[in-house]
Amino acid sequence: MSKIILTGDRPTGRLHLGHYVGSLRRRVELQNQGGFDKIFIMIADAQALTDNADNPEKVRQNIIQVALDYLSAGLDPGKVNIFIQSMVPQLTELTFYYMNLVTVQRLQRNPTVKQEIKLRGFSETDDGSDNKAGTPVGFFCYPISQAADITAFKATTVPVGEDQEPMLEQCREIVRKFNATYGETLVEPEILLPENAACLRLPGTDGKAKMSKSLGNCIYLSDSEEEVNRKVRGMFTDPGHLQVSDPGKVEGNPVFTYLDAFSRPEHFERYASCFVGKKASFSFKNLDEAKAQYRAGGLGDIMLKNFLSAVLNETLEPIRQRRAELEKDIPGVWDILRKGTEEAVKAAQATLDDVRKSMRIDYFNDSTLIGR
Ligand code: TRP
Repeated sequence: MSKIILTGDRPTGRLHLGHYVGSLRRRVELQNQGGFDKIFIMIADAQALTDNADNPEKVRQNIIQVALDYLSAGLDPGKVNIFIQSMVPQLTELTFYYMNLVTVQRLQRNPTVKQEIKLRGFSETDDGSDNKAGTPVGFFCYPISQAADITAFKATTVPVGEDQEPMLEQCREIVRKFNATYGETLVEPEILLPENAACLRLPGTDGKAKMSKSLGNCIYLSDSEEEVNRKVRGMFTDPGHLQVSDPGKVEGNPVFTYLDAFSRPEHFERYASCFVGKKASFSFKNLDEAKAQYRAGGLGDIMLKNFLSAVLNETLEPIRQRRAELEKDIPGVWDILRKGTEEAVKAAQATLDDVRKSMRIDYFNDSTLIGR
């Protein structure tokens, strides 16, 4: 069986470090390892509209931003297919058929949906007075549409962050139900989570559980060096760590979580002697040594943050440079999206043909029905 990847992002803003360590970096590795027959990367504009129906302009403007982030992070259109979800109408049709295989109660139990409904402030009742009051049906059903995204490409592997686990589980249930009801047709996908625990869910700069645009706690891939430095300087650390000599907490300290996600041994060699303070210099062989020193007392937040800024800026610099180049040819980026979308339409149509045949709703091709 071929090995196929499908994954994607909602275009509601530029991509940030959480996206990068949670899945983008991995996609680039997978692309370069060449172990997959096809890689589809989707800009999920239709899904973004499920809770932005009143602001399609935001979604529209961010399609190119996400495409720029993808390409500057190293996705290569010669190796992956980047496409726009809503331009593949087959996905909508699949969603409509899958809706009959999922119950309202099952959707209500989906932990990600539950949490997102709370986060967005959709209330449980809707008295008709305010169109934002209840949960939009489209939003409620987006896990079904996500199952269509994945299965339309017969994806075997879906590299995403941990928060997408309930979506994958729901997708696998739909596949099993479809195959059991209509015959073996769809492929059950597997989730591919980040290996590094810190990358599963990168906290925001404020230490809150997740980097999220609405919380204003993100560092973006397109942030300048100055912006990165400013955001890192303002990062939450251990509020009990007041003096350099005080023992500090490493667990739950986002500066260390970011270092877990981004720092490599060579960074410690490269920047070991760069930050010489009044009392000490940053000279650790590896992250474990730095953590031990922080716990014992004697490693200051400023020094630590300077090191983190250096690590992040080193990681982001090549991405920024590629972005600057790509921004000179925006029509060229749209051409990449158009070609990728054309390929995606072909692949999704082939699956839709199979689906209609299995469901026996391909009436005009059915001689037993027509009698000729
Ligand atoms: N829900 C994903 C997110 O918010 C985006 C997405 C849409 C997706 N369809 C997908 C991810 C299919 C993986 C597979 O990031």
